[in-house]
Amino acid sequence: ELNSYIGLCKDLLTDESGLVITAPDELPAFQKLLGDGSQLGISINYAVQPSPDGLAQAFIIGEDFIDGGKVVLALGDNIFHGAGLGSQLRNSTDVTGAHIFAYKVGDPQNYGVVEFDADNQVISIEEKPANPKSSFAVPGLYFYDEQVVQIAKTIRPSARGELEITSIHQRYLEDGRLTTTILERGTAWLDTGTFDSLHAASAYVKIVEERQGYKISCLEEIAWRNEWISDDDLKTLALGYNGNSFTTYLESLLRVKLQNNRR
Ligand code: G1P
Repeated sequence: ELNSYIGLCKDLLTDESGLVITAPDELPAFQKLLGDGSQLGISINYAVQPSPDGLAQAFIIGEDFIDGGKVVLALGDNIFHGAGLGSQLRNSTDVTGAHIFAYKVGDPQNYGVVEFDADNQVISIEEKPANPKSSFAVPGLYFYDEQVVQIAKTIRPSARGELEITSIHQRYLEDGRLTTTILERGTAWLDTGTFDSLHAASAYVKIVEERQGYKISCLEEIAWRNEWISDDDLKTLALGYNGNSFTTYLESLLRVKLQNNRR
C-alpha cells in the first residue's frame, strides 16, 4: 500500500472545514503540503490514526471535529472525475441516514460490493466477498447523518482486524436508512493504492489535462472558483510556484477572467 489518508468534511461545501487523518509517520508531509488551509480560504485540521485499525475508526478519532453534525468521509487514495459529479455530490450533502455510491468494476471482489433488487434498492452490502453478488463496488466517498459516530462505536472488528466501513453501511441498511447512487458510465473512479493503479491514474490525469488544458483537482483553482479566495490571493499563490507550469496555469485563469469578466 502506498501512502494514503482519510479525510472528513463537515457540512461539505457550506462549512469549508476538514480533518485529515493520517498514519503518524505521514502527518508532517501532509501538513507541509496542505498547511492549515487558510491559503485556500478553508480550515484544515489534522489527526493521526496510531495503527491501521480500519476506516470506520475515523468517526471515533474525529468525534470532536464532527461535533454531532453530518459528515462526509473521503479516502485519500480514491480519485473521482466526471461531468456533473460536483453537482451530484452537492445534492448529497443534506443526507438522512447514509448515502453511498456504486460503480461498475471488473474486479468487485477487491472492494465493498452492493447488490440491488429489480427496483435498484440495495439488498446487501459485503466487504471484499470471494463470490461477489454484483459488479458494483462502493467507492471511497460516503455521506452520513448525525448517527454515524454512535454506530461506529458499536461495530466490532472484522476477520482482518479492522473496523470496516462496510459494517457501518450494513447497520444503516438494516435500519432502512441506506441510499445509493449508481455513478454513471463515463465517470472515472480510480484507485491509487498500489503502484500499478497509481501509474494508471497518473496516465489518465495527464492525458485529460493535456487534451483540455484544464487541470484536474487543482486546489487553488477550486478555492478561487468557489470564491473562498480573491483574485489577488490566486495571483500570490501562482507566484509561489516560482514560474513553473502551475504559475502559468493559475495566471491563465486570471487572464481568461479578465477577458470574459467571469470566473
Ligand atoms: C476500502 C473499503 C472498501 C471500499 C474501498 C474503496 O477498502 O473497505 O469497502 O470499496 O476502500 O477504495 P481498502 O482500501 O481498505 O481495501
